[in-house]
Amino acid sequence: MSTSSSLNGKRIVLGVGGGIAAYKSIELLRRLVDSGAFVSPVLTQSSLKFVGETTFSALGSEPARTSLWDSGDPIPHTRLGQQADVIVVSPATADLIARYAAGIADDLLTTTLVATSAPVVMVAAMHTEMWQHPSVEDNIATLRRRGVIVIEPETGRLAGGDIGVGRLATIERVVATIEGLFIKSNKSGSLSGKKVLVTAGGTREAIDPVRYIGNRSSGKQGIAFAEQAANFGAEVTLVSTVPAAAGRGVEVIEVESAQEMFDAVSALAGETDLVVMAAAVADFRSKIISPTKIKKNNGAPQIVLEPTPDILAYLGSVKPKNQVLVGFAAETGDPEAEARRKLKAKNADFVVANNVLEHDAGFAVDTNRVTLVFGDSQVTLALADKRDIASKVLSFVAEWAFKNGVWSE
Ligand SMILES: Cc1cc2nc3c(=O)[nH]c(=O)nc-3n(C[C@H](O)[C@H](O)[C@H](O)COP(=O)(O)O)c2cc1C
Repeated sequence: MSTSSSLNGKRIVLGVGGGIAAYKSIELLRRLVDSGAFVSPVLTQSSLKFVGETTFSALGSEPARTSLWDSGDPIPHTRLGQQADVIVVSPATADLIARYAAGIADDLLTTTLVATSAPVVMVAAMHTEMWQHPSVEDNIATLRRRGVIVIEPETGRLAGGDIGVGRLATIERVVATIEGLFIKSNKSGSLSGKKVLVTAGGTREAIDPVRYIGNRSSGKQGIAFAEQAANFGAEVTLVSTVPAAAGRGVEVIEVESAQEMFDAVSALAGETDLVVMAAAVADFRSKIISPTKIKKNNGAPQIVLEPTPDILAYLGSVKPKNQVLVGFAAETGDPEAEARRKLKAKNADFVVANNVLEHDAGFAVDTNRVTLVFGDSQVTLALADKRDIASKVLSFVAEWAFKNGVWSE
């Protein structure tokens, strides 16, 4: 049994829903128990069509429960709900998500969910059509608004041979998210009580009311930073050019242009412990914005460009002593050399470098491969989901900030 995990000694209720991915919760149970947690398995009646109660009883810290009515406990749901440090539901079926969002408590798992004030992590898995159904989307939004952590499914092979979004997140990601909930109560490596400002997406620089100069940034990496920083206990403001859901610990300010992003960021930066400038800010904008649509029959217009405000350089020039500034270098040439130049020129503490020409990293895709450049050092993180990259970078940055006295315990 490991004693180094933040899960050591924690009480976890592991709820298992009736989906094909139920078998994966056997491995999840094992990992959680190996991390030193006390895990109480609660299986829905449907899940028993996919996995056996005996397996969960054998591997769990106490026998698995499958009903409100047949246990030795007179009131099992309140005991489970009150004692839990966290409730993890994996897989969280469309049905469980709906019942929980509606406050329905008609079996042991949903009754326990309604009877707890502990954090809840729902690890969703279902067919693509179900995941994209408006009712599921609405229920997920409701749960997020209430502070539930939803780990979204990944894209890959689904039951029946289909390929699409719906596959249960990797066990590593699920465990890392649960660990993240408790890391924040250990000071070092935590973002508890910290104010974090994240920017995301590519800016759009208007040419006329219809057209703009833009770039291919999807905002996924920035949004992942905002979500993970909130999971690590931070109070997060996300300044984004792409719509993003506000949720537990994340306030969203939508902007469009580099100037709007500059205005939002500069108003907040002084109060911020950590700034993560993940947005792809245009370097140039049109000097003149036509108030009406430029007409084709007037011939090709001449667009004169001018520089936009350099947000990172500005932040570096006004950086308070106790603030950590993280910039990004999305490059097509030598990203690390460019990151090192940027680090010095902009007075940033870290620059996250990635090569946007790689097919599995950078713009629009769900994965990234980055090098974190700081001081005279650098650390390369292997290809991973953008949320995992965000968690790793945030943990690294927080540890560095405490160790170097930028943040005090
Ligand atoms: C073979 C099979 C696979 C299923 N897989 C899923 C799934 O991955 N996700 C899901 O939300 N529902 C899935 N369902 C539907 C659920 O089992 C069904 O909605 C059930 O009522 C869920 O009960 P529970 O939420 O109480 O566990 C599946 C059903 C069958 C027959």
